[in-house]
Amino acid sequence: MSPSRKLTIAIDGPAGSGKSTIAARVAKKLGYVNLESGAMYRALALKALEQQVPLDDADALRALAENTLIQLEPHGEGNQVLLDGRDVSRRIREADVTAAASRVSVHPPVRRLMVARQREMGSEGGVVMEGRDIGTAVFPDAEIKIFLDADANIRAERRLLQDGTRSAEEAQRLLADLATRDLRDRTREASPLVPARDALIIDTSRKSIDEVVAEVERIVAEKDIG
Ligand code: C5P
Repeated sequence: MSPSRKLTIAIDGPAGSGKSTIAARVAKKLGYVNLESGAMYRALALKALEQQVPLDDADALRALAENTLIQLEPHGEGNQVLLDGRDVSRRIREADVTAAASRVSVHPPVRRLMVARQREMGSEGGVVMEGRDIGTAVFPDAEIKIFLDADANIRAERRLLQDGTRSAEEAQRLLADLATRDLRDRTREASPLVPARDALIIDTSRKSIDEVVAEVERIVAEKDIG
């Protein structure tokens, strides 16, 4: 099914809500481009770690971001992420970068730059962009806004499965990290993780991916007609 117009679809939600998988599947079904905004914060965080830029120095991080090229290329179920031309798609998923991305993304000057770039990337429409502030800050006028949520325990379990974590210690650390990042995303001053007023909230706790994708498709079809 391909909509008659090039809609903008914003999908927000916390880690483990199913965002990435669902955004990728929806984009594929509609023939849209899927953009993972989190990958941009992750790529910047990786560069900050490599160049030893302090993660609490907003101005230095902003300057770093200004001199950094981050490209998101469609690739299977997600994006290939290029940092200054280098493929960092795998590296940015590792625990140290994950933790650093959460810290880098609290700074308003960094967010302003990222949001401007994200708007540019999605300016043509026909895009599914996923993140934390897409419906509230990046595309407040998006035709479709979905906020995915799920019970915290279920989200943590999904993350464990996804990461193939083995030892109990590793599992505990991963759960603690998830809770820390969640709290930071929800309580930061700049664009905290909250549903946009006009977002449709879907609780994915007890739903399969196929069910949620079908629900989003229905919403898109209704919007396309209406
Ligand atoms: O979605 P993902 O887990 O890849 O995002 C990495 C981090 O980037 C998140 O923990 C969050 O702090 C931040 N982020 C954000 N705004 C977005 C996307 C991600 O602040 N739109």
